[in-house]
Amino acid sequence: MTIILLGYMASGKSSVSKLLGTELELPVLDLDDYIEMKEEKTIPEIFETKGEIYFRMKEHQYLKEVLETKEPMILSLGGGTPCYANNMKLIHEYTQQTFYLQTSIPEIINRVKDEKAKRPLISEIANEDLPEFIGKHLFERNAFYQQATHSILTDQKTIESLVEEIKTQLD
Ligand code: S3P
Repeated sequence: MTIILLGYMASGKSSVSKLLGTELELPVLDLDDYIEMKEEKTIPEIFETKGEIYFRMKEHQYLKEVLETKEPMILSLGGGTPCYANNMKLIHEYTQQTFYLQTSIPEIINRVKDEKAKRPLISEIANEDLPEFIGKHLFERNAFYQQATHSILTDQKTIESLVEEIKTQLD
């Protein structure tokens, strides 16, 4: 069984995938970590030295590589992964167990405002401009996130309760 977690930056994908992996006894793979390992660079370094288009190409390539192993796992995507290179179509060729962790704009802002540095897309955006930027960004990305088979609202929920919710929705 391959379970995919997707959602905007800071929606809890990494933390939820770790606990879900422990509970289901499945390996957990974070696509950003995989890209960093393969490229021997951090995500901010890749954006800075090679640019976003290169990053999106590599993101697609490594997503495909991981899916093609057909290993049972929990795969946590980057926030933008579903929105480029027909990645949702590719994902659904391998699994229908896709979960969109849906987080409100105020909650995302709360979580990212003090840790922008590791997120190249928002690192240059002033805190007061975050609501407009994130609002627009989510609006553009929503159509892709909504392609997930399941949507889970995350606001005011603990990692434990999100994991329980996902488990009840597994087919
Ligand atoms: C991105 C989100 C990041 C990372 C990259 C681009 C995005 O992942 O893949 O900085 O386009 O939203 P997280 O969602 O894990 O922060």
